[in-house]
Amino acid sequence: MITLTDIAYVRSGVADLDAATQFATEIVGLELAAPTEEDVAHLRADHRHHCLALVQGPSGVISSGFTVADLDALAAAEAELERAGFTVRRGSPEQARSRRVREFVGFDDPFGNRIELVAQQESIARPVAFTRGAGITEFGHLCLDAPDVHEAYRFWNTRFNARVSDWIGDAACLIRIDPVHHKLAVFKGDEPGLCHMNFQVETIDDVFRNWHFLLDHDVVIEMGPGRHPQSTAIFLYFLGPEGFTYEYSFGVRRIEDDAAWVPRTFDPGELGSIDMWLGPTSRPITQPQVRPATAGTGTMGSGSRPAPAPPAAGRARPGR
Ligand SMILES: [Fe+2]
Repeated sequence: MITLTDIAYVRSGVADLDAATQFATEIVGLELAAPTEEDVAHLRADHRHHCLALVQGPSGVISSGFTVADLDALAAAEAELERAGFTVRRGSPEQARSRRVREFVGFDDPFGNRIELVAQQESIARPVAFTRGAGITEFGHLCLDAPDVHEAYRFWNTRFNARVSDWIGDAACLIRIDPVHHKLAVFKGDEPGLCHMNFQVETIDDVFRNWHFLLDHDVVIEMGPGRHPQSTAIFLYFLGPEGFTYEYSFGVRRIEDDAAWVPRTFDPGELGSIDMWLGPTSRPITQPQVRPATAGTGTMGSGSRPAPAPPAAGRARPGR
């Protein structure tokens, strides 16, 4: 069992780095870290050095990062995944530096989503210098696609300290790794990809102020404002450049008594199961996973090449 201590980051490839960075700062409101690396923009929302890295290159999500406790936990996770048949690659020092982590490993989940486990993600002490006052308090959760959310949950629950908080039929599985109702979600989708990246905001007023701001700036609103009955979060989904969906939300439920919580199942066809305010609903747009065929060996990183894969003899890669 691998213990995930938190979500760490999303790394996304963009064909137009300037446009994607401008949107992440001036529209979403994130802080742009001082550039230290050509073709990578690090965006900050909370104590983390960054939670979103935009990487010049083929358009599509590169990886989703999760923290483990320390280097020993990382080594144990690496060994456990390899024993289970996953091809696991340790990032190079340059790649780790680009992620602002001490070390990390990467592997594909059974559905083709690239996952990275990291140790010692850097924190920054000074307050975030938000580009715009969107009210962001933290990187809230990330959502991946898989063709079968039940199989996806089996993967996360078998390998990791991941527990389902609620089901939305066959459409979604909302998963917690700490008291927050979900830090990870899996939505039904034919291909691997990042369904959306969530930022928590401080008040309900921020959600509605942001909604008007986005409308004023001709941003495509995908869904909301509305309220999810599962997490009780008041949500607003909107579309950024290159098919990257952002979400603001406020008021996510916390599950403090873990043992007492009984996951519920909601039929997505029932009125109010996605938005209890009964507003129009639509599935957020997924940014596809960068495929090795289009990204060469760059799926691990920032443009620098990862170490060659060790021979895979004796290790069957999990089927997709
Ligand atoms: Fe969400």
